[in-house]
Amino acid sequence: MGNLKHILDAFFKGIARSRVSLVGAIITTAVFPFLLGLVVIDSLWHLDNPYLGAVIYMILGPAFMAGLFMVFVGLFFLKGKEEVRIFTLDYLKEHFTDETRFARVRKLIFLGIFLTGANLFIFSLLGYSGYHYLESNAFCGKFCHTVMEPEYTAYQNSPHSRVNCVECHIGSGATWFVKSKVSGARQLFAVALDTHPRPIETPVHGLRPARETCEECHQPEKFHGEKLIVNDKFLPDDKNTHVQTVMLMKIGSAGNLAEKAHGIHWHVAPENTITYQSDEKRLTIPVVTLTRADGSKTVFRSGDSQDTAPLETREMDCIDCHNRPTHIYRSPEAALDERLLSGKIPRELPFIKEQALVAITASYGSHEEAESAIAAQLTRWYKAQYSELVASKPILLQMAIRGTQEAYRQNVWPSMNIGWNTYINHIGHGENFDIGCFRCHDDMHESEDGQTISGDCMTCHVILAENEENPEVLRKLRGE
Ligand code: HEC
Ligand code: HEC
Ligand code: HEC
Ligand code: HEC
Ligand code: HEC
Repeated sequence: MGNLKHILDAFFKGIARSRVSLVGAIITTAVFPFLLGLVVIDSLWHLDNPYLGAVIYMILGPAFMAGLFMVFVGLFFLKGKEEVRIFTLDYLKEHFTDETRFARVRKLIFLGIFLTGANLFIFSLLGYSGYHYLESNAFCGKFCHTVMEPEYTAYQNSPHSRVNCVECHIGSGATWFVKSKVSGARQLFAVALDTHPRPIETPVHGLRPARETCEECHQPEKFHGEKLIVNDKFLPDDKNTHVQTVMLMKIGSAGNLAEKAHGIHWHVAPENTITYQSDEKRLTIPVVTLTRADGSKTVFRSGDSQDTAPLETREMDCIDCHNRPTHIYRSPEAALDERLLSGKIPRELPFIKEQALVAITASYGSHEEAESAIAAQLTRWYKAQYSELVASKPILLQMAIRGTQEAYRQNVWPSMNIGWNTYINHIGHGENFDIGCFRCHDDMHESEDGQTISGDCMTCHVILAENEENPEVLRKLRGE
């Protein structure tokens, strides 16, 4: 007991004698109650609040640690002259041989061990929860609120809404964690100083190779056969006629022990390496090189290979087709079709597809402006054309307005200059056959021996029905 008192005595005296320690102690003491309180709140209630996390792990935590560090440094290095000598051999020799002063050295050693232990404990506690905070969706998606809101919203409406941002953007391993935090710190400044681009630029050039992230969960080697895809659409007529496009997509496989690589996932089989040259946006691809397992190469060039200025070379991976696996921005038609299908926008309301499309494709300056304009316009049109229906079933119009506003709000962000179709999805070819697969599969990329990358409609899919009402093929499959 007596010993402890001596240690504490020495501790407080030491602090009092060094200004650095004193300032450190003041910071530590002032921060401690807030830090403790917030950490307890955070761990008990698991608040998913990005600002709370930022206050704890980016402000209070570092301040507390800096305070402790100052106490430590001040205590051992910046006191009176005599104590500095503790670290010289002569001093130690002198003290260890002098029985009476021995206790003093021991005291300092005790103190050192105690402080180091306490520091390590607190450092690791903060480090551990801080690491988790920096990896959380709250930090990635919400901290930089307006900047990330579009990606965060699109992500929540996707099949990957339960996959954390970091699993695609960072992946496992320390190197990519550090890389991401270095570029993250730069981005944080860009947000603070408001110098970040609007919209955020894509493609993401520093993205970790997709094979290292996507393949943590997906194995294209195990894919096989064909996938039945049904796209639901609604026509802009009085009945909002429900039509469907049905196709068999030749998913194929990246090849496993039993089967050779074939079909769509042939591109990512280990034995095929496809590299291509493109402009920065990866929209024009004049040169494609296929290297096979035996080392033989085929180079496909298209007519525009001369006149595209600076080119980058890239190895094809999942992202060249699945560039929007989770930040899926819909086209205006698709955004409405989705809601007509789920019933958020009632199909009983005549011409709602047509009218909603007119309303959401106009240009607005903000979400608020768009919402009031959409409500005003739909109300005006339906009161003029279908006054009886609106009077007898007002709920239909109310639902339609809400659904239409949502279709706009979840896909367009005037504040970030994100309009309809700002972010292109490369998974298909678009209606004009000019993006996605058709950047290469346009029958125009030719090798020296005259082969082309095929644009034949049967290469990738079999269309079983196109925009048909109640297609026969689906009735047959259901046994009707
Ligand atoms: C399933 C994987 C995946 C997940 C999960 C994911 N992303 Fe992405 N993200 C991508 C891909 C792929 C791109 C586009 C790459 C390209 O085109 O170069 C991208 C692009 C972005 C961009 C650039 C702008 C854009 O839309 O192209 C931002 C910002 C972004 N992601 C933020 C986030 C945030 C925040 C989260 C979590 C809330 C998240 N991402 C979760 C795969 C993912
Ligand atoms: C942490 C695991 C995980 C990672 C990493 C991941 N995915 Fe997925 N992915 C899933 C799950 C789970 C589903 C199924 C979701 C569902 O059906 O609701 C899925 C579904 C998909 C689908 C089918 C979507 C659909 O419409 O049916 C595609 C395509 C896909 N992922 C591509 C990717 C790509 C590309 C990447 C890398 C950028 C990736 N995934 C990374 C877990 C993951
Ligand atoms: C050449 C373009 C291309 C490449 C490269 C590619 N995919 Fe695909 N993938 C497709 C298409 C097209 C589909 C089917 C369309 C759809 O599901 O919307 C598909 C479907 C999928 C599915 C859903 C399969 C199912 O049965 O539902 C997953 C998961 C997937 N891909 C993951 C990956 C991963 C992981 C990689 C990278 C290792 C990859 N893909 C590379 C084009 C590609
Ligand atoms: C960067 C260029 C590029 C892009 C983009 C691309 N492909 Fe390919 N694809 C190729 C090349 C090169 C071949 C091989 C052509 C050959 O050998 O004749 C090929 C072959 C194929 C094959 C035949 C595979 C086999 O069984 O031999 C299919 C199917 C295919 N691609 C589907 C797609 C789909 C679907 C997309 C879009 C989602 C797509 N490709 C996008 C370059 C590309
Ligand atoms: C290189 C592969 C490839 C070739 C070649 C190709 N397609 Fe496609 N096509 C796709 C993919 C991928 C999709 C998107 C599937 C999805 O919705 O996920 C698609 C979708 C479609 C759709 C459905 C669009 C929708 O919105 O529902 C139609 C129709 C279509 N293709 C017609 C054609 C026709 C006609 C040709 C020949 C001129 C052709 N395709 C050639 C890969 C290809």
